[in-house]
Amino acid sequence: MSFDIWNRRYTGSKYKLVDWIFNIISHNCHGESFCDIFAGTGIIAQHAIKNMQKVIINDFLYSNEIIYNAFFLQEPFDINKINDYKTQFQNIDISSIKANYASMYYGNKFFSYADALHIGAIRDAIDSINDVNEKERAILIASLLYSADKAANTVGHYDAYIKSHYIPDTFKFDLISPYTTRAEIEIHREDANILAKSLNVDIVYLDPPYNSRQYSRFYHVLENLTTWKKPKLYGEALKPEPENMSEYCRNGALKAFADLIRDLQCKYIVVSYNNTYASKSTSSRNKMTLENIKEVLETKGQLTCFEKEHSFFNAGKTNFTGHKEFIFLVKAN
Ligand SMILES: C[S@@+](CC[C@H](N)C(=O)[O-])C[C@H]1O[C@@H](n2cnc3c(N)ncnc32)[C@H](O)[C@@H]1O
Repeated sequence: MSFDIWNRRYTGSKYKLVDWIFNIISHNCHGESFCDIFAGTGIIAQHAIKNMQKVIINDFLYSNEIIYNAFFLQEPFDINKINDYKTQFQNIDISSIKANYASMYYGNKFFSYADALHIGAIRDAIDSINDVNEKERAILIASLLYSADKAANTVGHYDAYIKSHYIPDTFKFDLISPYTTRAEIEIHREDANILAKSLNVDIVYLDPPYNSRQYSRFYHVLENLTTWKKPKLYGEALKPEPENMSEYCRNGALKAFADLIRDLQCKYIVVSYNNTYASKSTSSRNKMTLENIKEVLETKGQLTCFEKEHSFFNAGKTNFTGHKEFIFLVKAN
């Protein structure tokens, strides 16, 4: 088994919409460079590398950056060495190891106790390796994130774990499969509003969060496994101190969006949006309306809208039908 970039559970992943989105882009935009500025899983960037000369990938989460480095970084890697580490990690004898950071916090909660112990032992082992380059290290950590996510006792994100429930041992360390491409790749971990000021590309794709659910809080376990600074964790969901809190999930979302659009220098702006603002659950309700977005985009050039019915990621609580997915395309003046 090996993981492709879309083999993870991620709120708002455009995996099922990627063909529709690129059909719109290829029929309406002319350009050779592309930026996925709120890249999430990176599935949109992964498509863009097939026909663009340059692709810039950005997201402010540490776990997303290491995943982009693993899949896209243009640095050679030794597959035999990676496979040797895979065998070594798969064969760690759990019964012979002591409790570690992951087992202490996440054991019998986000993972079974044995799985948490195994995950912590692999992550410690990766930090003790000194014969890998940046790409190889990213492949090992991203592989751990994908493997751990598959075994996680959650509904798809880490805002909570599933309680009163026997957690089976399902963890198995498998590798991600890096992509090869002739496109020039640039990877960033920056606030999108800061990166926007220095970008110079033909097409910018924007898929910001639209509700109050902070991605850094939803994916805190993956963030923690990536940085591995072993901070103290708090509360029922064992979260660290807040970091990378997005303005797009707060009441300042519209201003942040308007500032970003103002600062972009490009030929085309492509924006994804969906109409969950009508949702009954407050945390799913959108911070910006369709009209807000249109007004901002119209200041930048000629606007065209596309829409599609779509059933979306549902963590169980939100009861919402009539979901539509939109693409706004601006040909900049
Ligand atoms: C809706 S998701 C993108 C999903 C992505 N298009 C996909 O298909 O997987 C929004 C992303 O924006 C990121 N994000 C939120 N605020 C940000 C900011 N200010 N700067 C950079 N990234 C941000 C989040 O971490 C999240 O991954």
